[in-house]
Amino acid sequence: MQLLTYRIQTTNPYRKENLPRAKAYGKFKGQRIQDAGCIIDRIVNDGFTNVKTVLDIGCADGLVTQELSHLIPEARIHALDIDPAMIDLANELDKVDKIKYILQDITVVWDDLDPELQALEDKVDLIFCNYVMNWIKPKDRPQAMRNISRLVFAAYFSVG
Ligand SMILES: C[S@@+](CC[C@H](N)C(=O)[O-])C[C@H]1O[C@@H](n2cnc3c(N)ncnc32)[C@H](O)[C@@H]1O
Repeated sequence: MQLLTYRIQTTNPYRKENLPRAKAYGKFKGQRIQDAGCIIDRIVNDGFTNVKTVLDIGCADGLVTQELSHLIPEARIHALDIDPAMIDLANELDKVDKIKYILQDITVVWDDLDPELQALEDKVDLIFCNYVMNWIKPKDRPQAMRNISRLVFAAYFSVG
């Protein structure tokens, strides 16, 4: 029921009203990329730079996703976020053209995930998730982790 409410919001003017808020998030770009560097360093050190399928959970405006794409140039990257304004902005800012942005709450049950994500079951080589889990309510985290475990081989998280 909660999910349905959220999807209704994506098609009404709420979406446009929130674009300035999403754009304001760009002010923190430098800091975010610097913070994401800790995970990115791990990915490099662990030798995951030649993987093929990557999922960025909670991509926001996609600026860090674009950095990830430069780091793993061969990868097809899927990037999801629960916030429709962020997904709109990510599509607007995308200069890489190898990233597929998907409006998605990672905490829904598996059968309610976007079919494109369900099709990635066991096919994701690497999940990137920077400063997102701390925004998810503790009661919703187990479902998020169940979804993640069906998707992926290796996952990297940071929490703020
Ligand atoms: C602090 S931002 C991190 C953005 C990005 N990972 C970065 O490093 O710049 C957290 C993002 O997680 C998203 N988010 C929060 N809960 C989510 C959920 N349940 N499913 C998907 N995305 C979620 C928010 O909309 C927000 O864009």
